[in-house]
Amino acid sequence: MKILNGKLLSEKIFKDIFNEVQDLKKNYNLIPGLAVCLVGDNPASEVYVRNKIKACERVGFYSVLKKFPSDISKENLKKEILMLNADKNIHGLLVQLPLPKGLYEKEVLSWLDPLKDVDALTLENKALLWQGAPRVVPCTPKGIISLLKHYEISIKGKTAVVVGRSQIVGLPMFQQLLSHQATVTVCHSQTKNLSEVCRSADIVVACAGVKGLLSKRDFKKGAVVVDVGIHRVDKKLYGDVDTEGLKEHLSALSLVPGGVGPMTIASLLENCLEIAKLSCWNKR
Ligand code: GUN
Repeated sequence: MKILNGKLLSEKIFKDIFNEVQDLKKNYNLIPGLAVCLVGDNPASEVYVRNKIKACERVGFYSVLKKFPSDISKENLKKEILMLNADKNIHGLLVQLPLPKGLYEKEVLSWLDPLKDVDALTLENKALLWQGAPRVVPCTPKGIISLLKHYEISIKGKTAVVVGRSQIVGLPMFQQLLSHQATVTVCHSQTKNLSEVCRSADIVVACAGVKGLLSKRDFKKGAVVVDVGIHRVDKKLYGDVDTEGLKEHLSALSLVPGGVGPMTIASLLENCLEIAKLSCWNKR
């Protein structure tokens, strides 16, 4: 079984981005900038956000972390986001999800300038994605496609199953696999014969957010499995896949940690770089 090593591939992507940023600074006086908004004190979100800012620093991006209390008013949060929309040094902007109670994702995301929306979560960017002409592709699905391509796992003509239907991972993952010409099924909590459906797949993407939901009995021999889950128990991380006995059973597996997580961050930086370059070229 091949290990789909997202940590290793992300390191290569960081290096490439670092070099490109040096170039952009020297030749175009352009420093890509990312702003991350964190509302409230969700401990997992704190870790993700810290990792995003650290990654920016590694590749030479300008970065801003804006932390807001969970009881920030809608009006004030909107004002802050509009200020970042107008900030010339910021090219990519994201609001870390989930939001605390009382704030509505759809409404908050509608305040983001679609031209700065690095996660592709605004209506306009979702529409472009589903039209097949994305400005940027959502970070986790983009990272998973990069990982599969890097390990020369072909997608075209394969049967793929996505377990999970979130706006941020499951649905755009479905779109990406489909646009790479897989035949795709999306499963969720109400799927009756989950195990049977998964066993029919050449490629399974587990993004249900349920620790150990899938295991050996749910995969056909030789399948490729990508695990998007992150569950912290006693300081140890687990995925949506129970890895017992998979070594001899699968042809490839992404581990948790060190699989999809670092690829999501690498893709975020790629998206931000892409947006920064576009904004720079459009001004010329
Ligand atoms: N929460 C968990 N993952 C993500 C992500 O990639 N982007 C945002 N904005 N929130 C998240």
